[in-house]
Order: sequence, then C-alpha cells, then structure tokens
Amino acid sequence: MIATDQIALVVLAAGKGTRMRSDLPKVLHKVAGRSLLGHVLSNAAALQPSRTVVVTGHQADLVADEVKIYDPVAVAVHQAEQKGTAHAVLQAERALEGFEGVVLVLYGDHPFISAQTLRELARKIENDVAVSVLGFEPEEPGGYGRLIVGQKDRLERIVEIKDALPEEAAIGLCNSGVMALRADVAFKILHAISSQNAQQEFYLTDAVAIAREQGYDCGYALGAADELMGINSQKERAVAEAWMQDKLRMAALEQGAILHAPHTVHMEMDTLLEPGAVIEPYVVFGANVQVKAGAQVKAFSHLEGVVLESKAVAGPFARLRPGTYLHEGAKIGSFVETKKVIFEAGAKASHLSYIGDASVGAGANIGGGTITCNYDGFDKFETWIGAGAFVGSNSALVAPVSVGKGAIIGAGSTVLSDVPADATRTNITPERTVENGAETFRRKKS
Ligand code: UD1
Ligand code: CA
Repeated sequence: MIATDQIALVVLAAGKGTRMRSDLPKVLHKVAGRSLLGHVLSNAAALQPSRTVVVTGHQADLVADEVKIYDPVAVAVHQAEQKGTAHAVLQAERALEGFEGVVLVLYGDHPFISAQTLRELARKIENDVAVSVLGFEPEEPGGYGRLIVGQKDRLERIVEIKDALPEEAAIGLCNSGVMALRADVAFKILHAISSQNAQQEFYLTDAVAIAREQGYDCGYALGAADELMGINSQKERAVAEAWMQDKLRMAALEQGAILHAPHTVHMEMDTLLEPGAVIEPYVVFGANVQVKAGAQVKAFSHLEGVVLESKAVAGPFARLRPGTYLHEGAKIGSFVETKKVIFEAGAKASHLSYIGDASVGAGANIGGGTITCNYDGFDKFETWIGAGAFVGSNSALVAPVSVGKGAIIGAGSTVLSDVPADATRTNITPERTVENGAETFRRKKS
C-alpha cells in the first residue's frame, strides 16, 4: 500500500520568467508582500511534508535564500540548464532517495494552491494509479496544457498547447501543472521521457502517457480556477494581487475589523486587524502590522512593523516605520514620521514631527515640528523622553539625550544635553525689538 499521507514536495523554480521583464527571478516577485515562492511554501507547509526540494536555476542563490526564510530544512537543488519541467524534477532524484509515499510537484509560479486541494490530489494515488494531475477549467484556457480524459475517467495524456491538434486545443480541462507521483516509480517514469516535441524540452506532462506505457493508470483531481492561477507577467501578478487583496479584506471584515472603505486599504499576508480595529480609507499596511481592538488608523497613513494597542490612534497622514509601538491611547498625528520608538500610554506627537530611536513616556506631549536628531552621518543615537514631559514646538532633540519626567522644553530649543526631571529648558536668545529698525535697514540697502 502507498502511504498517501507521506508527502515530499518538489517545487520548480528554475525559470527566468522572461515575460515578467524584470531582473528579479519570477518566483521572488511578491503578492501581498510575500514572494510567489513564499506563498507556495507556506501553503504547502500545512501538509507537513517529510521532505521539500526546491529546484533553482536563474539566480539560484537569491532563490535559495528565500527558501530558507520559509523552510530552513528544505533542500535547494540546482538545474544548470532549463531543459523542461520533467528535467527539472529529475534534479530532485538524489534528494528524494529512499522516500516512500507521494511526490507532489508544484510550480513556483502558482502561489495560491491550498493544502486541502493538494491533499485531495495526493489521495488519488493508489497502487495502480501512479500519476495524478490537478486539472482546472479556467475561463480562458489559452496556453495551458490540455487534459485528455478517457474511459472510466482515467487520464490518458496531457497535450501541450504548442503540440495540440485543433480539437485538442478546444478542450476546456487544463493542466494546472501540479502533479502527484508514486515515489517508488516516479523516477522510472521520468527517465523515460524524451524531448521530441515542439519545444525540444523534457515535458513533465509526458509522465502521464509514459506511466500508461509502463502499465500504470493515471487520474486527475479538479481544483478551483482562482486557486490555480499562474503568474507569468506583470499583468497576471497584478490580477493576483487584486484577488488576494480582496481575500484579505474580506477575511479582516469577517473577523470584525471596521474598514470604512475596504477597497482602498492595502494589506499584506501578515497584517493583523483585530475585531473592532477601525481603519479609515486609503491606508497602506506594509509588513508586520498589528492593529488591536479599538485602535484607529486614520486616512492616508502608511504603516510597517507597527503595533497599535487599544485606543491608540495614528493619522491622518502618518508614516509609522518599523519598530513603532503605540501603547493604549497613544497618538501619532498628521505628517509625523516614527521609527523604532515606543510611545507609552497616552503619549502624543500630533503634528509634523520625526521621532526615531526613542522612547516616549506615558502622557508626554511632543509639540509640532519636533525632530529627534538621531543620526550624525555615521551612527544612530537614542532619545529618552520621560513620562509627562512637554516638548515645545520646533525643538531639536540631539541624541543621545534624555528629557526627564515632567520636564518642559521651550519652543524652538536645540536640546544638546540631558534635561533633569521637572526642569525647564530654553535656549533661545532673548527677543530684541528695535523700533523703526526695518526702516533703517531698508534705507541702508537702497
Ligand atoms: C506548464 C505545463 C502546462 C501547464 C502550465 C501551467 C509542462 C511541459 N507544461 O507549462 O501543461 O498548463 O505549466 O502553468 O510542464 N521550470 C523549471 N525548469 C525548467 C522548466 C520550467 O524549473 O527546465 C519551472 C518554471 O520556472 C516554472 C514551472 O517550472 O515555475 C513551469 O514552467 P513553464 O515554462 O512556466 O511552463 P508552462 O509553459 O507554463
Ligand atoms: Ca508557467
């Protein structure tokens, strides 16, 4: 008996992706902040594969680095020359030595196939069914290979569109590219594939006809068309992005997040909007953002690497960069940029500021135009602002520097040294008014 719950993955990711017209390998292009390859590996992780092999080729090092992020124990094997999808799978032969169960071949450019669908495909493998293929019926069958189904619903062969007769091209049932093979006979089948076809390539799709020649049956499973979309061009990536954005927004709404204009909110795969989080229109979430219940992101804000605790408010027009943490009731207002900064409960920077590499104590108030001067052109330094401190408008806090609890900084100060708790600090020279001074000045100039 074949153990169909033992799964090994072979992910094909050697192609250049010429039609993307980009230097970046195709599988590293992103949808909702995650690379295509990242999507494939994270979806398939739910299958708990016993082995994962990724076939790399173009810019193999870059691709292998990406693999490590999602699966540190996956093996990357190199396909020096791209001689076709069957040739690609053959590169995984050594890495799969001794594996018994089902080999699932996935394409790095088909990012959205669910573990559920893959499991169903793997279950089609039986003692006499050596190969099963995931088929689908796209609205436009276009360039996909076609599945030729014979008696008893057995799959007879797959014909590539470039080799298809007109009546074959008219078939709507297409090859998604995903294939399951019985591990113990997979490589006997793959080695028998030749490159005698329109593209002079070793087609993985020929595994079906070859398996039958070797006395095995082949089956297929049907997947939903949207789950099986492949990405070959910028246009297709953009379609996939729109589809995924919609999914993410719907999931957030179902969770109870309050999105005033959902279609204007851009999310990433890891964006976490708790029930009751309020998101106004035109907000962009980059990687790693959590908005807790009762927190609010106002219109036209950009957030990445941020946590907003309950009742925290950001925006409108706020730019919160990685490492920003707003505790309960903290507030970042319009045209404020933050980076690596903790705002304790109720702390505020309401207007036109840059606060970076800093901690701001509970209830502290940072006036408009305040800048933490955290960089001297070589190194970064920190600023500490104590609880209840008041920083007057247009102050420059030259780090490293601390403003003690309850201290008050006068407007327009350049703060070069630590300010003790409850002290005041001003450093502007006293104002001087000269009556008729302007008149004197103009006379001198003319
Ligand atoms: C392939 C299928 C086609 C199917 C379609 C679904 C074959 C022969 N054809 O066609 O039936 O409908 O996918 O999208 O399998 N790759 C390698 N090494 C190679 C060649 C390809 O790693 O030598 C990788 C590519 O990077 C890509 C995947 O395999 O991720 C598919 O290759 P691609 O050339 O895009 O195949 P299609 O022509 O789209
Ligand atoms: Ca393709």
